[in-house]
Amino acid sequence: MDVRPFWLAGRPATGDGELTVTNSHDDRVVGVCSVPTPAQVEEAVEAAHAVRREAAALPIHVRAEALAHVSRRLAERADEIAHLITAENGKPIFWARGEVGRAVSTFRLAAEETRRFGGDVQRLDTEPAANGRLAYVTRVPRGPVLAITPFNFPLNLVAHKVAPAIAVGAPIVVKPAPATPLSSLVLGEILAETALPAGMFSVLPVPNDRAAGLVADPRLPVVSFTGSGPVGYAIMDSVPRKHVTLELGGNAAAVVLADADLDWAASRVALFSNYQAGQSCIAVQRVIVERSVREEFVDRLLKAVEGLVVGDPADERTQVGPLVSAEAAERVEAWIGEAVAGGARVLAGGTRDGASLAPTVLADVPAGAKVVCEEIFGPVMVVSEADGVDDAFAQVNDSVYGLQAGVFTRSLDVAFRANRELETGGVIIGDVPSYRADQMPYGGVKDSGVGREGVRSAMDDFTYEKVMVLTGLTL
Ligand code: SIN
Repeated sequence: MDVRPFWLAGRPATGDGELTVTNSHDDRVVGVCSVPTPAQVEEAVEAAHAVRREAAALPIHVRAEALAHVSRRLAERADEIAHLITAENGKPIFWARGEVGRAVSTFRLAAEETRRFGGDVQRLDTEPAANGRLAYVTRVPRGPVLAITPFNFPLNLVAHKVAPAIAVGAPIVVKPAPATPLSSLVLGEILAETALPAGMFSVLPVPNDRAAGLVADPRLPVVSFTGSGPVGYAIMDSVPRKHVTLELGGNAAAVVLADADLDWAASRVALFSNYQAGQSCIAVQRVIVERSVREEFVDRLLKAVEGLVVGDPADERTQVGPLVSAEAAERVEAWIGEAVAGGARVLAGGTRDGASLAPTVLADVPAGAKVVCEEIFGPVMVVSEADGVDDAFAQVNDSVYGLQAGVFTRSLDVAFRANRELETGGVIIGDVPSYRADQMPYGGVKDSGVGREGVRSAMDDFTYEKVMVLTGLTL
């Protein structure tokens, strides 16, 4: 099998180690990539640092054309890349195609946003002391970005860091998840086709234990991390003076109120608790149902869960595939076991076969069980009852996390109330918490992280506001 190169300051390179990527469904080797040496990592970081002024001064049309090119090429290579995502991640091809489609949009949106990123002019002669003065306000890059990306969206969550960095003129060094580096290396291949200056991007598949050196490096003043809370907060604590963005986990709740369309709610909850085998930070984990409709809703939910197509991720019909590894599935199985030992009832699923777990529905879960308090990152949901809206919202907020929540209701009053009262970065009315559009702000409160992604939000995050004052003007 050919060893794939990594991307060092815009060119392909090979190092002195290799990383083997396997498919969790059948354990076959799907690819091998080269691992950079410490000297090559140093070269990539120095190149990002050296090119930072040239990158910030890149004409907008050059950035926009590079981003549009990536969007077009991802679309042209969509089928190949979707199969690669499925192979390295185990994600069903249906969802992998969706992820590539989203990455096409993410780069297109960045190409559009960069053209709107020109700054503002503010007249200062609103005050007598500022006659003849004008402020020109722009956003300038904080500096090169270190992106540490997760395995669950190996293309689009890389895109959510790379595209806004290019849009604002910031060099970027990507450290992809060791389980799924291949999609980001294809992205590197496409970026290398653009007119971006050398040094503007590197993709370095180094093991996690070599990330600390990159995090600490002062030439990378921005760290954008997506992954687990303990790792994210350890990064933030290790570099308190850097600009750190953390997109962390959650135990997302879907609230189903008595006025909801129960068929719709059941089908959406069933699907989005199990999409990507629950390995999304906004997969439905907690289902909070108004007591008066509990029975009707749970009947529908169990039918919808039974109807999910589980199996080979390469099959176009499959909705639920394996987790990223057998170890990940074993951990989830152990958490289910802990809940059951504490008195939880298994309404569906609960069984494991290698890396695959049957879609699982639990009820009567004891307070404090990991399946409800921590991020499960598996195809498991926990159903509880609520006595009305107050109780339902209190249950949503009874969590250390706060990424997104979904509320199934037809009432506009309740919708606005949810928006006011739920302690989350996003509230989705009439759908699951798992809904995300790539242009909207996305991020959490509480232990779910700091900062926002979403193309325009990340562009703001990677830059600071700078003001130039012109004096002595006749306005
Ligand atoms: C995540 O797991 O945080 C990303 C969810 C998404 O982009 O849909």
